[in-house]
Amino acid sequence: MKRFTGRVALVTGSLRGIGRAVAEQLHVDGAMVLVSDIDDPQSEAALAIARDLPGGQYVRIDATSEEAWQAARDLVARDHGRLDILVNNVGAESSSPVQDLDLAVWRRMMAMNVESGFLGVKTFQPLLAQTGRTTPCGSSIVNVSSMMGLVALPNTSAYSTAKGAVRLFTKSIAVEFAKAGVPIRANSVHPGYVDTGMLRNGLSRVAAEAGIDSDALVAMTEQSVPMGRMARPAEIAKVIAFLASDDSSYMTGTELVVDGGITAM
Ligand SMILES: NC(=O)c1ccc[n+]([C@@H]2O[C@H](COP(=O)([O-])OP(=O)(O)OC[C@H]3O[C@@H](n4cnc5c(N)ncnc54)[C@H](O)[C@@H]3O)[C@@H](O)[C@H]2O)c1
Repeated sequence: MKRFTGRVALVTGSLRGIGRAVAEQLHVDGAMVLVSDIDDPQSEAALAIARDLPGGQYVRIDATSEEAWQAARDLVARDHGRLDILVNNVGAESSSPVQDLDLAVWRRMMAMNVESGFLGVKTFQPLLAQTGRTTPCGSSIVNVSSMMGLVALPNTSAYSTAKGAVRLFTKSIAVEFAKAGVPIRANSVHPGYVDTGMLRNGLSRVAAEAGIDSDALVAMTEQSVPMGRMARPAEIAKVIAFLASDDSSYMTGTELVVDGGITAM
C-alpha cells in the first residue's frame, strides 16, 4: 500500500509549476488528487488531468474568491466526503522600489499569497478536522511561502511581507488546532529559486527593466545559490509530500527551507 492510498488531496495552482509537481508526487504516492487552478475546466490543460493523473479530478478554484472556495468545499464534501491534505500553493510575485509600488499591486500580493491560503484553511477546516479524526495522524495543511518570507532582498517588500505573513499564519493555525485538539497539522515550505514560469517571467521582467540580458540574469541568479543551480519543482514537491504524510506526524507550526543553501549564508 502506498503512503497516501485512500487519502484525498487538494492542491491549489496545480496545473503548472510547483503545484503541478506536488499533484504528480501525491498521485504517485497513491492519493486521489484534486488539481485546482484558475483555468476553465474545458481548457486543454484542465482536460489533460484525466489522462495525466488517472483517478484525479480538475476543480476550478480562483483561490482569491471566497465563493469559489465554498463551491469547491461543497463539491469535495459531496463527491468524496473527506479531505486529508490541503496544499495552499497559489502565489504571485512582484518587484518594485517601495516608493513606486502601487497600492493595487500591494493588495494583489496579499490576496494572491495570503488571502488565498486563509480562505482555503477557513473553508476546509471542518472537513479536514472531520477527516483527521478518522486517520492515525490527522490531516495536513501545507502552505507554500518562500525564502523571501524569511529574508529580504531589495525591491521585493510586497512579496516578502506577504510570504512572511504566510509563515506566521501557518504557525498561528498550527498552535490553534493543536491546543484545541483539532487533528490538523499545518506547516510552511520556503523554496528558494525554482525553475517555473513564475521565476522565468519575473527574471525576464527584471532583466528588461535593468536593460540586461535575461540569460545573464538567470546565470547570475544560479551563481548566487551555494548549490549553483535552481531547484526543480519536483525537489520542492517531495518536501511538501513529506509534510503532507504521516512521516511528519510530530511536526506542526514549523517551516522547511528548500533553497540550495541561500539562507544559510
Ligand atoms: N518559482 C519560484 O522560484 C518560487 C520560489 C519560492 C516560492 N514560490 C511560491 O511557490 C508557489 C508556486 O509558484 P510557481 O513558481 O509554481 O508559480 P507558477 O506561476 O509557475 O504557477 C502558479 C499556478 O497558479 C495558478 N494561478 C494563478 N492565479 C491563480 C488563482 N487566482 N487561483 C488559482 N490558481 C491560480 C496559475 O495558473 C499556475 O498554474 C507560489 O506561492 C510562489 O510564490 C515560488
